[in-house]
Formats: sequence, structure tokens, C-alpha cells
Amino acid sequence: MTTDRPTITRRQLLRGIGAIGGAGAVYTAMHAMGLLGGGRALARGPSTTQALPARSMTGKRVLVIGAGLAGLCAGMRLARAGADVEILEATNHVGGRSLTLRQGDSYSEWDWNTPTTMKFEQVGDVPPTDPDNYLNAGPGRIPQHHERLIDYCRELGVKLQPYLFHDAANLMQNDDWNGGKPVQLRRLKNDLRGHLSEMMAKVQNQGALDKLVDPSEVDAFLGMLQHFGQLSAEGAELVYRGSATIGYPRAGYRVQPGDVKTPGRPWPTLSLDDVLNSDFWNSEMFNNLENFWQATLMQPVDGMDMIVKGFQRASVPGGKTVNDLVVPGEPVTRIDVVDDKVLVTGKRQRGHADYVVATLSAPLLAQLEGNFLNPTVKQVLSSVYVTPACKVGWQGRSRFWENEDRIYGGISWTKDIINQIWYPSYSFNSPTGVLTGAYNRTADAAEFQKLSRSERIEVALAGGEKLHPGFREKVFAENGVTIAWAKMPYQAGGWANDTFETQPEVFTQMADADPINRKVFMAGDWFSYWPGWQIGALDSAHLATDMMHREAANRG
Ligand code: ALA
Repeated sequence: MTTDRPTITRRQLLRGIGAIGGAGAVYTAMHAMGLLGGGRALARGPSTTQALPARSMTGKRVLVIGAGLAGLCAGMRLARAGADVEILEATNHVGGRSLTLRQGDSYSEWDWNTPTTMKFEQVGDVPPTDPDNYLNAGPGRIPQHHERLIDYCRELGVKLQPYLFHDAANLMQNDDWNGGKPVQLRRLKNDLRGHLSEMMAKVQNQGALDKLVDPSEVDAFLGMLQHFGQLSAEGAELVYRGSATIGYPRAGYRVQPGDVKTPGRPWPTLSLDDVLNSDFWNSEMFNNLENFWQATLMQPVDGMDMIVKGFQRASVPGGKTVNDLVVPGEPVTRIDVVDDKVLVTGKRQRGHADYVVATLSAPLLAQLEGNFLNPTVKQVLSSVYVTPACKVGWQGRSRFWENEDRIYGGISWTKDIINQIWYPSYSFNSPTGVLTGAYNRTADAAEFQKLSRSERIEVALAGGEKLHPGFREKVFAENGVTIAWAKMPYQAGGWANDTFETQPEVFTQMADADPINRKVFMAGDWFSYWPGWQIGALDSAHLATDMMHREAANRG
């Protein structure tokens, strides 16, 4: 249906409102028009860590399979509501993929004959057991919008500090570009911004943007481009002569300016060709724009597993802690629903339970024996794709990345199979520090994990060399560690690869499949919109326990 009413754009309308009522009126009107988004929609409110009603699960026996974050959170909630809970953990490690390696910690991939034991060295006054000496072999960062996780950290007394994702001095390296020599991230970003701004200004000057930019806004648009891209006004033209033309160069200096006799030497400008040929526009340059990697990110002080430890020491009724509920070394092999009960079998029969929370990764859950899964759900769970993911860790003989490259936190990126090197976001200027010396996923991880431990270490040293010449001598190479999550016992890989996007049909069927037989409730980051994030584990644990509680209430 059409009308003959004169059309008025939202922009014109707002301008009119502004003329009458000022900025406050515009703001109110924008709210009314839904242009600012609802403030309330941003926050989930104070109930992210809400307990189940007291005693609502009293008399119920619940077995939780897996003592990762989902299992610990579910176990705590249920126990606090009065349930008789056991958390059956297949390994002797509590925390699942939340694994922080410190001096003397050991772990083994399934085909290793001997475990890897983490070994740090004394450097200056920093002893091997210094709290700063750790590698987060699993999760390593928390986005600011992962509310439930951050709220649990507050409740569990877990201190948080910034995790720096992006330092403008981080390095970008590609064997096929710039002779393989790394380039600072700030150069690529700012020179690209300059070239793009100049192009947009040219297009505007040619009148080609007339349909897109209101004539009354052309000046503002060009002014914005000038600031955005550090453009110089030359006659009627705005051009990019490199970021050093105006003020301090955003692309930075090859030689830093200092006293009055030391003016500094800016980096030469990268051409648009250079930026395009780097191939970093493909992802790495813009990774910090990803919703989940935007500043501010956080990490627990002293290692990611501080969250696990927080859950472990949390109190539950009977004068116990959550840790008292964990039964280590108990791999579950089958689940049977028998009449109104669930029979769980590990090394031995675990007895009848009223309910089960199963936090195993989907494909591993599908492999369990027993009658609890119908063939359709089994098929759906077994088709969830779990990406391989690998890491490498090094201790620096010094903080060479700080002392030589002036990198303070963030990530350097390379097209090499190691993909990236993470620098510690804390304790700058310390005599030593721990680097995440490789972190790859999907195809690169699938290749990398095929290598033996010593081969991976050699490959990672070669990758490190590309970013930091002399790397082998700068780290304690002989103490390097490597982990491939797809090869860790009772793990299927790094994480389900954004199933909602990559396997939408599987995701829908998976979501609809819960709860299985109204007895077995699934949880784990894979059972959420946040696979590969701890918030996914907690959100799914809340969902599972909320649903179980409702089911129990309905049954009376
Ligand atoms: N959450 C994981 C990361 O940040 C996948 O790399």
C-alpha cells in the first residue's frame, strides 16, 4: 500500500526536533524511535549468578559428568539447592580445558609415553615458582560482555586484571611480503586509514557520493575524513602524504623523537599496494574489532584457573565445598534410563540418580553407551564439528619483546603455522615473562598436532624467529611446552566451531533435543552461542540446572 503523504527522512525529523527542543529532545526522540537501542536490553540484570530456590532440589540425587567449568557451576547450584551431588571427572585434573600450567605441573596427550612437565628457570630475582610464571594452556581472556562469568568472578573472589589484545607495536609477519620482515601493526592500520580516507575524499569531490551524503553534511564528511585519515588539504584536494605530515605520526617512528636535538624519524609510508599485499586485511589487522575481542578484555590475576579454584572452594551445604563433590579419575562409559532413574556407569556403577548433567563435548557424549540417546540425537551430537586448537609456551630469558621491540602485551600475528605470539599483559619490566608462543586452530592446528612434541617445539622456534630474530637464544628453548587439545584425554578438540553459524541445522536440532528423556541435561560451552568461551559453559550450566529444577518441581 502506498500513501501520498510527503516523506520525511529520520535525519530531517531529528534535525527539526533538535531545532525546537535541543539535544535532550533529540536524545529522547531517538530513544522513542529505537535508534539508540534499549539501555535495559544491554544488561541481564543482577541475577546472572542467581541461586536456585533454597531446598528446591532436596532429596534429589544428581550426577554431573565432567568437572570443567560447566560441571562445577551446575554442581554448585544444585548442591546449594539441596541436591545430593557428585561430579564425576574422568581425569585427575579439575577444570577441563581451563588449564593453567605452573612450575612442576604435568599433562599428557593420549599418545605420549611420558608427560610434559612445566619447568621455569630462575631469572634475576624471579624464582621458578613466581606467581607470574604460568601458561594459560586453555582459555586466556574474558570479554567485558561475558557478564555471568565476570559476576561469578566477583562472587567467588577472583581478582581480574586487563588482558591486552592489541598493542600498536605488535608485529605482523608474512613470508610473502616485505621480504618476510615484520611490520608494526600501527603502520598497517594507520596507512590504510589514510589511503582509504583520501580515496573517499576524491570520490566526494567528484560528486559521486552526492546520493549518499546530504549536501549539508559534505563539509562534516570531509572534515571527518581529514581527521580520520590524517589528510593534508592541498587546494581543493584532501590527500594522504603519510601520517607524519601532520602532528605526531600515527604510524609511529623508526627512531623515536626525544630532546630538542633529536627530532625522530617516522616510518616511511606503506602504500595501499603494500597494505593489500600484506594479506593482513584478511583478518589479523581487524581482529580487535571482533565483538568478542574488543577492549576491554580481562583475565584473572595469577592465571585463568583461578576461576576454577574459586568454584572449587565455594561452600555447599553440609560444611563442604564444591571440590568435595568431585570424584576424580571416574570416566563415565554408559548412561541408561531405567524406569524413573538414571543409571550411570563409570569404573563401577555409580548407583541410581534422579538426574544427570552431562558436560562432555557433544561428539564424546554421542559415543557413550546406554539407552539415554535416541539415534537421531546421537547422530546430531556426533556431527558437531569440534575444531582442533594448539598452543605453545615459552619462558623468556628476558622480556626481549619489551626491552627490544617495546611491545607491552597484545599479540603479534604471522602467516606462519604458529599464527600468533601472545605477550604477558602484566608485570611489565619484570626480568622474565611467559609467552604463548603459538596458538592455532582449524587447518593449521590439524597440521601442527600431527607433529611430535619436539617437532612442534622446533617449528614454533622457527615461527618465533620470524617475529623476533634470535628467538631460540632469547627463550628457554629446551623448556618449551606444547598442547594439542584434540589429543588431550577426554577432550574432542579446542571447541565446537560456532555451530550456530557453521552447522545451523545441527545447532537447531541440538537445542531442541534437550533435555534427553527429561533426565539427562546437556551443558558445556558447545551447548551455547558461546562455544570456546567460559561464559558458554556457565550459561549452559544455568540452563541445564534451571530446566532440571523446573522438571523436578513439575514432578513433585
Ligand atoms: N575464545 C577463544 C579465543 O579467544 C576461541 O581465542
